[in-house]
Amino acid sequence: MSVSRKSGYEIKLMREAGRVVALVHQEMKNIIKPGVTTKHLDDVAYQVIKDNHCDPSCLGYNGFPYTICASVNEEVVHGFPSDRVLKEGDIITVDVCATFRGYVGDSAWTYGVGEISDENKRLLELTEKALYAGLSKFKTGAMLNDVSGAIEDVANENHLGIIRQYGGHGVGKDMHEEPFVFNYRVPNGNFELKRGMTIAIEPMLTLGGDDVEVMDDEWTVVTKDKSYAAHFEHTCLVTDDGADILTKL
Ligand code: MF3
Ligand code: CO
Repeated sequence: MSVSRKSGYEIKLMREAGRVVALVHQEMKNIIKPGVTTKHLDDVAYQVIKDNHCDPSCLGYNGFPYTICASVNEEVVHGFPSDRVLKEGDIITVDVCATFRGYVGDSAWTYGVGEISDENKRLLELTEKALYAGLSKFKTGAMLNDVSGAIEDVANENHLGIIRQYGGHGVGKDMHEEPFVFNYRVPNGNFELKRGMTIAIEPMLTLGGDDVEVMDDEWTVVTKDKSYAAHFEHTCLVTDDGADILTKL
């Protein structure tokens, strides 16, 4: 496995890509409410990315036809923006990637639409908690399996399902670089994090099981048991002091 370590200049570009991704999320947070379509979210995201001298990295990636992935309720990842109208109580994951001068920032966040149930609040809080538990282990010299394990522990302690077919990944010139990051401990997880690596950490947890299937559009991934899923992701730089989150303001 060859994992690149970014130069100071490359990190500057990635930080700018990440800043713009964070700007998109700030805007999503403001506009997500009952009555809004997911296509509108896509249009706004496209405009924010373009206004900030970036390109939408997902648009055209392996043929993906939109700027954002918009995954509602039991949809886990890769949902298509559409004329679907968000309603009170829905949860929606917006996954955003932007490219600045060839370098990618990648971050996903799950939002509640209006008032959501206590059960869904708990799902969102704990999935975000799992992300930060993973990031608390993320630093120079640490083992990637410990990042994965911290995520797994939050899920298990709270009886949440862990999506197994998808996970985090290196990010840089490509949206998906090595290493793959499992959201649970694996037998061969002794990969050592080194200063300058840039990796997206992204737990995907559910209120039910961990089985998923891909819908007829060949993209949208849903839970088999239709349980709701949440997904929180940041692109992070490995430093001696811990995770330097690139996808924030
Ligand atoms: N942003 C997603 C990730 O976290 C990938 C989106 S896949 C695409 O890896 F094809 F829609 F771009
Ligand atoms: Co990602």
